[in-house]
Formats: sequence, C-alpha cells, structure tokens
Amino acid sequence: MKLYGIYGASGCGRGVMPIVSAALAEDETAVFIDDGVSNSTVNGYPCLSWKDFLAEQAAERSVCLAIADGATRSKLDKKCAAAGVGFYSPRSDQTVIMDEVLIGEGAIISPFVTITSNIKIGRHFHANLYSYVEHDCSIGDFVTFAPGVKCNGNVVIKDHAYIGSGAILKQGKPGNPLVIGKGAVIGMGAVVTKNVPPGETVIGNPARLLRHN
Ligand SMILES: CC(C)(COP(=O)(O)OP(=O)(O)OC[C@H]1O[C@@H](n2cnc3c(N)ncnc32)[C@H](O)[C@@H]1OP(=O)(O)O)[C@@H](O)C(=O)NCCC(=O)NCCS
Repeated sequence: MKLYGIYGASGCGRGVMPIVSAALAEDETAVFIDDGVSNSTVNGYPCLSWKDFLAEQAAERSVCLAIADGATRSKLDKKCAAAGVGFYSPRSDQTVIMDEVLIGEGAIISPFVTITSNIKIGRHFHANLYSYVEHDCSIGDFVTFAPGVKCNGNVVIKDHAYIGSGAILKQGKPGNPLVIGKGAVIGMGAVVTKNVPPGETVIGNPARLLRHN
C-alpha cells in the first residue's frame, strides 16, 4: 500500500484532500496528519498523529505540507527529511501549466490556477484557488499564494514570501524584475507597483508599508 499524508487538517489541508483523493489508485490511501486532532476522522478521512503515520504499514509513504505559513512548512520539511519521508505534489486536474515551467517538490497547485511559460518555482510552493503566475517569473522556496493572486510577468519572489488573497503584482521588465523580498507579506487586495523589501508587509493600492502604531 502507498500512503499519502496531508500534513495539516485545517482549512488548507481540507482543501487539498479532495485533490489527492481524486487521483488515488486502488492500492493507495490518503490520510491527514495533525497532532492537534490525532486518531480521529476529518471529513471521513483518517487523521493520524505524526508518530502513527510513521507506524502505519505501508510500502511507501510521502507527505505534502498543507499549511499556509511558509515558516511552519519549512520546519515540517526538516522534520519529514529527518524521518526519511519524501514529498509529493498535489495538483488539481483543473489547472493549466504551459511551457518550460520548473516546480520544486511538494508544491500544492489548487483548482483553476494557471502558470504560463518560462517560470521557475522553488520547493513547497502553494498556489491557491484562481491564482496565476505569468511568464518569466522566478519564485523561491516556501512561497504562498492565497486565493486569486495575480502575479504578472518578470516578477521575482524570494523565499518565504506570503501573497494575500486578490493581490496584484505589477509586471517587471526583462533584466529589471519587480522583486518581492524574502519573507515579505503582501496584504489581501494590494496592488504592488514597486519592489517590496525583505520582511516587510505592504497593503493598499498602490501598496504601502504597513506600520502598526
Ligand atoms: C496585511 C495583513 C497581513 C495585516 O495583518 P495584521 O498585521 O494582523 O494587521 P491588522 O489586522 O492588525 O490591521 C492593521 C491595519 O491595517 C488594515 N489592513 C489590514 N489588512 C489590510 C489590507 N489587506 N488592505 C488594507 N488595509 C488592511 C486594518 O484595517 C488595520 O487598520 P487600522 O489600524 O486603521 O484599524 C492581513 O490583514 C492580510 O491582508 N492578510 C492576508 C489575508 C489573506 O489573504 N488570507 C487568505 C486566507 S486563504
């Protein structure tokens, strides 16, 4: 038996399970892994603790990290690697992926996502519902797109950036991309027209730094 774990049984994981279960062969099983709600069922699927997932009888086991926070995915990535568990990449049938697209392991590509051409994406990318990535973009590791992100051409997004729902990233130019810095957060609905420094949060149209009082 081949065992597929979906790490996280919250909203994100529950949105990934139907994609994984629809693609299962007869000798394959999908379960949630969640230490918070272990040894129960969630939406009719078994939900195991990490320990129980490792103890399940299986010829092969692999995991996807269904947690929106990139830093948490990064920690779990190390935990899985330490246990010798590899990653698979759930991808909805209702996606369009065009030419010369390279995507690292563990990516979760939700329904109605489009990724066009000549695009490089790192490990454990999340592209949530109705997001798109246009031509000539480069995206780092553990990057998250909430639903409806519009990432236009020639944009560079560094590791761990989080792009909120409905955000629009202006296209860059060849050799002079728009750059979203490492760990930056783009608020929902932001219209990003300029580079965003690492670790900063921006909101609004045009996007401005969010400063808490
Ligand atoms: C930008 C964001 C990260 C800020 O979160 P936060 O640091 O907790 O900020 P707060 O909620 O305390 O809001 C701070 C201020 O910014 C405003 N604000 C927050 N997010 C905003 C946004 N996206 N656009 C415009 N204003 C926003 C708030 O109204 C508040 O204004 P006030 O000080 O005048 O009351 C968050 O609001 C956001 O947009 N997250 C993305 C959500 C998302 O896409 N979820 C998808 C789930 S699948």
